[in-house]
Parts: sequence; structure tokens; C-alpha cells
Amino acid sequence: MAQKFKIVDYTTKYGSIMQFNRNKNTYIHGWYPFVEGYSKQFILSIIDEYKNINSCLPSLCLEPFCGSGTTPLELQKLGIECKSFEVSPFMYNLAKVKLTNSYTVESFNKYYTKIKEYLNNPVENICALVNLNASKRIVEKDGLDKWNFDKDTMNGILDIKYSISKFNNSKYERLFTIALASILLEISNVYRNGKCISYKKKWKEQHITRKEVHEKFLVKLKEVFLPDIKLINTYKKNQKLLSNNNECYLGDVRKNLNKRVDDDSIDLVITSPPYLNSRDYTDTYMIELRLLDYLKNDDDVKNLRKNTIRSHVQVKWNKSNNIGIKTLNNSIENLKKHESDFWNKGLINMIEGYFEDMSILFDILYKKVKKDGLIFFNVANSAYHNIEIKTDEIIAEIAEKSGFTVIEIREARRINPSSQQKENIPFLRESVIVIKKVSTSTKLCI
Ligand SMILES: C[S@@+](CC[C@H](N)C(=O)[O-])C[C@H]1O[C@@H](n2cnc3c(N)ncnc32)[C@H](O)[C@@H]1O
Repeated sequence: MAQKFKIVDYTTKYGSIMQFNRNKNTYIHGWYPFVEGYSKQFILSIIDEYKNINSCLPSLCLEPFCGSGTTPLELQKLGIECKSFEVSPFMYNLAKVKLTNSYTVESFNKYYTKIKEYLNNPVENICALVNLNASKRIVEKDGLDKWNFDKDTMNGILDIKYSISKFNNSKYERLFTIALASILLEISNVYRNGKCISYKKKWKEQHITRKEVHEKFLVKLKEVFLPDIKLINTYKKNQKLLSNNNECYLGDVRKNLNKRVDDDSIDLVITSPPYLNSRDYTDTYMIELRLLDYLKNDDDVKNLRKNTIRSHVQVKWNKSNNIGIKTLNNSIENLKKHESDFWNKGLINMIEGYFEDMSILFDILYKKVKKDGLIFFNVANSAYHNIEIKTDEIIAEIAEKSGFTVIEIREARRINPSSQQKENIPFLRESVIVIKKVSTSTKLCI
């Protein structure tokens, strides 16, 4: 069958820049070791391309799935305005902290000294002073066979939380909380293992003391955060710095985009939605979300899950609507043949729901993007029960249904499927779909 969309090999250009780890030591991006993001070089390559086409920079950009804030942060460094949306309060706070550029070295040092003094002489029974609002496995206790943090390690964390809460300055409280977030997994007994949290090998032999927690935190502040704050202060002396902080919004983008963004105002969208891989970010970031009080109770967790894109089965979704895309319907028909073997009965509803969400998003985007505006949409294909779901091609069809023109699908990387799928599906394509809102006059010429 003839290919509907042009698929172009971009593995040489994109292969090494689609992953966040390129930025782990980079100015501000390096404040938190994020896994599910792309690198600043990806943003820079798109801006170069935009400049070559339009002979100018975009005036206003949009990032519907802000995550750790890579897109609005890199754009603000280039002086480009960007509106962004994020549903997870942890990611949202992480992005906001990185987008704030009003920190001063003087204030940073004031709070650093304050916390250092406190940590030299912490309260003996700290766990009685600080509320621990997390799962029962969060800390070592009699009767548990596994726990996320040893008791002494947790005391170190609670010391830091307690002293941050005494700052009386929300800006630096947020900043220092992100510094704490950035060391949490390293000092825990677990690691993020794709969809879930797993225990580290030999975790029972590793013990991080209360004092070591304090030291790691202070080193992070001094060696990673402070040098960047010094740089912000130097840059500020020479030029007025743009901040995209006030245009980063918390909540479900499907509900907020219409309210927050004017029609026909966006020149360029750069984004990467959650992939259709049944990974629930609420699960994988539960330690940060609960331990740092971004979510207070189980109802908050449930509400957050309900507001995420339907890419997982951690909550029961309402029945999804069929959006009438042939490629999708063919995959669903094939999948139905394996329905009795499904590890979760909600899989088909999730897959249909995911694409319904994409359809809702593209309908709104069509109103918001200017004529000749561009979208760079980074996704990856998925596989369930040896059936490949060509997410990129289905989203391309959805974009065209909403009125856009798909320029091409760029193959960025080849991802290994899980071992059960490998025999029939040697690799899954990760791609960047390049989409344009073609003006009516141009359309007539095609
Ligand atoms: C792949 S990550 C984006 C990573 C980002 N490009 C970066 O470099 O940090 C997708 C993000 O979409 C967010 N998300 C999921 N559902 C959402 C929704 N309904 N509205 C807004 N954001 C959502 C997730 O919490 C996650 O942070």
C-alpha cells in the first residue's frame, strides 16, 4: 500500500539530541535529572530551521506538555516568548523554578547559610515535627519487607524539608525544594524503571546517613545551582532577561489551552506528549509528588491521574469515542483478536482515548496556530500483543483531519520494543511529525 505520509530518515541529525541526558550538566537544564524529555539542542535545531524558512524568529511559541520545562526555558534564553502547560504539580513547579530568573546570589547565600546552620544542629526527633504524607512503604518500619528510604536517610530529608519551611520566602522555598527533589532518587532504595519504581540491586546494603543527606543537598546547591544563579546575575547586568515563568500554566491542557491562548497567535509549537506506552507519570514521580507535598492525599492522586492524557490504565476512563481514523481502526481490529490475553481489560479503551485526546488537542491547536505556523510533534510508536500502533501516522492523520497539512514524518530514533514483541517488531520508530497550518492561498497553489 502506498505510504500516505513522507517518512524521512533524520536519525543522523536527531539520533543524539532526542534525549534529555545531553543536558544534565547544562546551564539551568541540569538542575533536575529528567529522563522523559528531549535536549536543548533539539529546540535549537528547530529554531534554526524556522529562521531559515521565515528569515526571523518566532514571536510566540507554545508547549502543551511542558514537563521539566526544556522548551520554554531554552526559548526564554533565546529571548522568545513561550506559553506552556503542565498537569503534574511537581513538573509544573520544576519548570517554574527553572523559568524564574529573579534569583540573586545574595539571597541565595542568605538562605544557604541559614539552612547550613540549621543542619549543623537539627532537632533530635524530626519525624514528630514534620508530617509525612506518603505511602506506607516510604520509610523503614517494623513489619515491612521493603521501603523506599531508610529511617536515618528520611530524617535527613525531613531536616531539610523542615528548615526550608522556615524561610518565609516562597521563591527560595520552591528553589531549595527542587534541589532536594533532585537528590531524592539517588539517596533512596529505588530507581525509575520505565513504567514503575524498582528496588536497586543490593539496596539493603546501602545506607545513606542523615549527615550524608545534608551534605549531598548542600553540595548540589553550591556546585550546581549557585554557579547558574551567578550566571543569571551576570547576564542580567548586560541585558534585560525574558522570563516565560508567568506564562507557564498548571492544569489539563485540553481544558486550559482555549482560555489561555489567543486564536491565531502561535507561530511555532514544539512538544512531546506522553507516549502511548501505558506509563503513568503520576506513578513514576509519586515519591516527589507525595514526599514534597505537591499532592496531599489519595484523592489528589486520583484527580491528577484523571486529568492526564489517556496514555495509561491507572484509572478507569469513561468509554472513549471512535474518531474515525482508518489506520487506528485497523490496529484496534487486530488487537481485539488478542483481547482475552490482555493484561488489562481497559487497553483498547485507553488506546482509543489517547487518540481522541490528540484529536481534541489538534482541533484547538488549529484555532490557536497562525497561518503558516509550524508544529514539531515528537512521539514514538507503540506495540501491544505484537501489534504495532503507528502512533506517528495516526496523529498525522488526526492533524490533517483538524485542517493542518503534514509536511513529513522524520524518523528520529529506533527504540527497542519489549522482549515479548521483539520477534515480530524489530524496532519502534520515534519520530518528529512536522505539521503546518497552510494558508488558503498557498493551499490553492498546491
Ligand atoms: C514527555 S513529557 C514532556 C517532556 C518535556 N518535553 C521536557 O523536555 O521536559 C509529557 C508531559 O505531559 C504532561 N501531561 C500529561 N497529561 C497532560 C495534560 N492533560 N495536560 C498537560 N500536561 C500533561 C506529563 O505530566 C509530562 O510532564
